[in-house]
Amino acid sequence: MNKKSMILRTPLIVRFCHWCMVCLFILTALSGLSLFFPSIKLFGLFLGTPQLVRELHPILGCVVFILLMFMFLKLAHHNIPNKDDLLWIKNFKHVILGKERGIPIGKYNVGQKFLFWCIMGLIFVLFVTGIIMWRRYFADNFSIPIIRIAIFFHSLAAIGLILLAIGHAYMAIWVKGSIKGMITGYVSRAWACKNHSSWYQEEMEKIYQEELKLKAELKTEQATKPE
Ligand code: HEM
Repeated sequence: MNKKSMILRTPLIVRFCHWCMVCLFILTALSGLSLFFPSIKLFGLFLGTPQLVRELHPILGCVVFILLMFMFLKLAHHNIPNKDDLLWIKNFKHVILGKERGIPIGKYNVGQKFLFWCIMGLIFVLFVTGIIMWRRYFADNFSIPIIRIAIFFHSLAAIGLILLAIGHAYMAIWVKGSIKGMITGYVSRAWACKNHSSWYQEEMEKIYQEELKLKAELKTEQATKPE
């Protein structure tokens, strides 16, 4: 399909950030699990010895946090709940059956918005509790009970985020065309119209306005051209 009939959904910088973050997230999650369950050697295999895992896990976690914060800055405004979201919730049964045509859906639907805020909330909890637990640099500044509370919430948030990430990847596979969109950046007009009708209309309006502007510019150029 030629790029002209496609719509840009995700800019290059956000895609690059997302896929780097995904790779590092997998390593961070596996290394974290290997610290949590030392008897399961498989988890630590990717990062080497347990000592190396202990050193690398917090650094990887910080990079994941920074990448997700960048995504937060780029995407938060598309994930603000609005009144159309109520219609999506009311028609959830139709959405599940793939019959969402007619329901106004913006760039991201309610499920995606909910996931977005959960991911951002959980990574924030992981970052703060991770800093408190980081033995090499920070843990000495905190009392033992505070560190224990931090470990508890760090583990809870990690399990939550891993489960959400699995659910998110599953949904991305389920909605055909969305992974391709996150790789190439572009989605077809049909995909946009079916899955995100309000966003599709906004994008088409932008394209239409741009074409009008171009036509007007061409007209004035021709009118001012010397004979
Ligand atoms: C193999 C695993 C993954 C796949 C296949 C995947 C796929 C995708 C796709 C296709 C989108 C774009 C959705 C759209 O345009 O409608 C997306 C967006 C996103 N992904 Fe992933 N992803 C994966 C892992 C992760 C992980 C581990 C995280 C974070 C913990 C994450 C966080 C996000 C965020 C924050 C967005 C933006 C969604 C929004 O703004 O509402 N992804 N992902």
